[in-house]
Amino acid sequence: MASTVIAVVNQKGGTGKTTVTMNLAAGLARRGRTLVVDGDPQGSAGQWARMASEERPFPASVFVVAGPLQRELRALRKDYDFIVVDCPPTLEGGTVEGALGSADHVLIPVLPSPMDLWGSVRMGRSLEQARAANPSLKPHIVVNQVEVRSALSRAMKHALMEIDIPALEQHLRRRAIYRRAALEGSSVYDLGKPGLAAVDEIDAIIDEVLA
Ligand SMILES: Nc1ncnc2c1ncn2[C@@H]1O[C@H](COP(=O)(O)OP(=O)(O)OP(=O)(O)O)[C@@H](O)[C@H]1O
Ligand SMILES: [Mg+2]
Repeated sequence: MASTVIAVVNQKGGTGKTTVTMNLAAGLARRGRTLVVDGDPQGSAGQWARMASEERPFPASVFVVAGPLQRELRALRKDYDFIVVDCPPTLEGGTVEGALGSADHVLIPVLPSPMDLWGSVRMGRSLEQARAANPSLKPHIVVNQVEVRSALSRAMKHALMEIDIPALEQHLRRRAIYRRAALEGSSVYDLGKPGLAAVDEIDAIIDEVLA
């Protein structure tokens, strides 16, 4: 199997990059050898995995990369089927550029309001530049923290149609279980029955991205 690199990017803070990274990696770990690359100097992915208990370690390895990401990723591809890169909330410092330069997919988590979406897609230009150098890079917006029982607002659907980055059909709902997964250093896959609805969401996202 050729390896697949998925960069999780948004220059806006707190949209769910680390949450998406870790749960996606846990889901991917059931399908192949999976690595999380923690490209964020805040180190949240590494911290997440360290919260895990010894009996139940986080299901994917987490590797902190401080140096040039592109060269590292090229080397790491040989050893893993899936690599998920958690990026910092900034376009400075070269991490996002390096991740976009070598990734097959870029997932952009956005919060479910048009204002947030516009704030998030200001990275559109970096994406265009990245795609000029890496034409096979496939971008996907993933709407995160959708409120229970409220479908996306008409304004949000309209805003999603207006931008030229395609959005995944599957959204992530706002669920306490995602916060619990972070606190326990695990993922929604390891939290039993309360995690099942979230597992379905993450599996559907993986299927859409890898399709
Ligand atoms: N679908 C969700 N349901 C409930 N809580 C969520 C969900 N997604 C993210 N959160 C919570 O929102 C907060 C921000 O999420 P997260 O840390 O993943 O964002 P981030 O984009 O990585 O932030 P940063 O830009 O600081 O790296 C966290 O407290 C996380 O637990
Ligand atoms: Mg983060």
